[in-house]
Amino acid sequence: MANLSGQPYPERQFNLSGLNGITDKQLEQHYKLYAGYVANTNKLNEQLAELIKAGDTLSPKFGELTRRMGFEYNGMRLHEYYFENMTSSSGTLEAGSKLGTALAGCFGDIETWRTDFTSIGKMRGVGWAVLALDPLSGKLSNHWITLHEEGNVVGFAPILVMDVWEHAYTVDYLPTERAKYIDAFCSNIDWSVCEGRLP
Ligand SMILES: [Fe+2]
Repeated sequence: MANLSGQPYPERQFNLSGLNGITDKQLEQHYKLYAGYVANTNKLNEQLAELIKAGDTLSPKFGELTRRMGFEYNGMRLHEYYFENMTSSSGTLEAGSKLGTALAGCFGDIETWRTDFTSIGKMRGVGWAVLALDPLSGKLSNHWITLHEEGNVVGFAPILVMDVWEHAYTVDYLPTERAKYIDAFCSNIDWSVCEGRLP
């Protein structure tokens, strides 16, 4: 999945200062980790382009760098969705809104969706809880993505992304306090951004 355009992916800037229960110090550390995924994605693309140019595509090196791309690229994009869907001025998801109506249609009601989403976020292991849309069926569903690349479903579009790697919260909370971080995250969701991701 190398990007051979020669154009590197840009590191995006986010200003989330003032979140509820997630400090600026925590965010600064997280932005640095995100920057690492952008840098490594671009580095992998350069290395793969060199191997292709040299005709060295059947080597173990080519295979391993290509596999590594799934981790770095998804790490980059998932963090962008995550930072983008938070705001210091979060409101309530209204039952009659476009997203609220869609969630009720797929889960029965918003609370059932929220229970499923946050329970997935509390699963043991490092990863992500993602609300995604299947564009073929129009249905919304919650998913667990391990590391960054295992659990993404082909064609599904992320609507809400929550990072539950320990690095996302251990500046502010103890490793055993993931549930507190999830509560904080849920109070900072930018519902208008999530709704804008619906077709
Ligand atoms: Fe993260």
